[in-house]
Amino acid sequence: MSSSSAGEARRFVLAARPQGMPKPGDFRLETVPMPEPRHGEALVRVIYLSIDPYMRGRISGIASYAKGVDPGDLMVGGAVGEVVASNAPGLKPGDFVEGPIGWRSHAAMPAGLLRKLDPSLAPISTANGVLGMPGMTAYFALLDVCEPRPGDTVVVSAASGAVGQVVGQIARIGGCRVVGIAGGAKKCAYVTEELGFDAAVDYKAVNDLGAALKAAAPRGVDVYFDNVGGEISDTVMTQINLRARIVVCGTISSYNNLPGQADVGPRQLRRLLVNRARIQGFLVWDFNQRYPEALARIADWIKEGRIKYREDFVDGLENAPDALAAVLCGRNFGKMNVRVGHDPTR
Ligand SMILES: NC(=O)c1ccc[n+]([C@@H]2O[C@H](COP(=O)([O-])OP(=O)(O)OC[C@H]3O[C@@H](n4cnc5c(N)ncnc54)[C@H](OP(=O)(O)O)[C@@H]3O)[C@@H](O)[C@H]2O)c1
Repeated sequence: MSSSSAGEARRFVLAARPQGMPKPGDFRLETVPMPEPRHGEALVRVIYLSIDPYMRGRISGIASYAKGVDPGDLMVGGAVGEVVASNAPGLKPGDFVEGPIGWRSHAAMPAGLLRKLDPSLAPISTANGVLGMPGMTAYFALLDVCEPRPGDTVVVSAASGAVGQVVGQIARIGGCRVVGIAGGAKKCAYVTEELGFDAAVDYKAVNDLGAALKAAAPRGVDVYFDNVGGEISDTVMTQINLRARIVVCGTISSYNNLPGQADVGPRQLRRLLVNRARIQGFLVWDFNQRYPEALARIADWIKEGRIKYREDFVDGLENAPDALAAVLCGRNFGKMNVRVGHDPTR
């Protein structure tokens, strides 16, 4: 085995199922012996833990598309780290990798679960964001599910977030008119002034969201990239055009609902019928065979300056629970990461 791996590691387990917004006490930080990589594994020192909205679903106890986290289990999550010891061909100390490492400082990971990163391409943290799962989500849910055409009006909710910011920029590259919906003046200014969206609606500031959307998207909505569900999406649905395409990527407005709490709203099926519109659910995993295609294209767009990205960082593994709460109420501004260890590339 290359390099040594003595010492202790830290990890978060779920302590209790949250009721509503997760609290720090719902998680327990433990100290454990440093893991030893077995044959085919590498010991990874975590640098950036990715914090994502799906984590709220995993700890809810409600059956979904993936196995949940039970009290006492390691908290799940993607992370970027550095190989510090390896028993796996193809990985050596000093390599940077990304994979489903979980909320911990160190992990012995099967090499097959790790993606080796090229730090010359972009900062390694982007493997959690624009060059990672959120970027893949934006690319495939927009291009494959929504099939945007030049001149279409594309509306995206949670527009300044990890997924939304990439959606809007890819739609702009494709010649669409892009309207972002985001919470707060700074987020709206960011998507229009920095990312080149055509308009933005601050849903937290307007009294009449429908009127504000109508002003921002006067020709109606051809594509709705739905990251949030709830009242925002109910409003967008009233303004869809003939043959509109709607992708249900996320429903974050209801992630903190209590078990059994119904997410009620108007019945929209007739609008779909009248407009011969299509609404489709999306799960990024369904496209995992095609990630290399999306990674290469997004990396090119970044290099050409056509895609920009914004990241948000919280320092210290111990603050991961608060970082999750931040994402679930919009205190993040861009892709949320927890800095767990030193990044030698910065
Ligand atoms: N289906 C898939 O495969 C897949 C993959 C990745 C992500 N997703 C989904 O995509 C969505 C965005 O994820 P992300 O990683 O890009 O997160 P993000 O946008 O970086 O962060 C979440 C944002 O959601 C907004 N939000 C929070 N609570 C809200 C509420 N009650 N109503 C309206 N907006 C609210 C906030 O933005 P504002 O301040 O602007 O409100 C917050 O910043 C999530 O729903 C996530 O579950 C789905």
